[in-house]
Amino acid sequence: MKKKYIAAFVCLVGLFSCEKATVEPINSTIISYHKDIEPIIEEHCIQCHSIGSTSIELYDYEHIAEIVESGQLAGSLNGDTNFVQMPTDHVLDDSSKSIIYLWINQGYQDN
Ligand code: HEC
Repeated sequence: MKKKYIAAFVCLVGLFSCEKATVEPINSTIISYHKDIEPIIEEHCIQCHSIGSTSIELYDYEHIAEIVESGQLAGSLNGDTNFVQMPTDHVLDDSSKSIIYLWINQGYQDN
């Protein structure tokens, strides 16, 4: 009898650990660079990545598009160990991250 309970418990734990913390896509809204992306960069990134930054510059669309193309922006946000994880002082919240991923997936337009 006891064995059954243990087996059931193990199954349950197994089930839950398989569930990944997925980020809900923000329906099919088209992400705007100016309305959605710029404010995130300004609040969380620009203090270290402004004009003349010794690392990369993220102060306008052209520079940001360059690091999207190189794969650095997604890599630096999503835990890819080939990239330095950003921001270095605190982790960007999941909703900001998913907005950025969605914008990249939508072709990172200057809209
Ligand atoms: C506290 C300062 C600071 C903040 C805030 C910050 N960065 Fe950085 N970032 C750096 C530094 C310093 C480097 C260069 C690290 C190195 O070369 O070792 C860097 C590197 C990067 C790189 C290159 C990563 C690579 O491995 O190629 C990207 C992309 C990047 N940052 C994006 C961002 C984004 C996006 C944000 C905002 C969400 C952000 N950073 C916020 C300091 C910062």
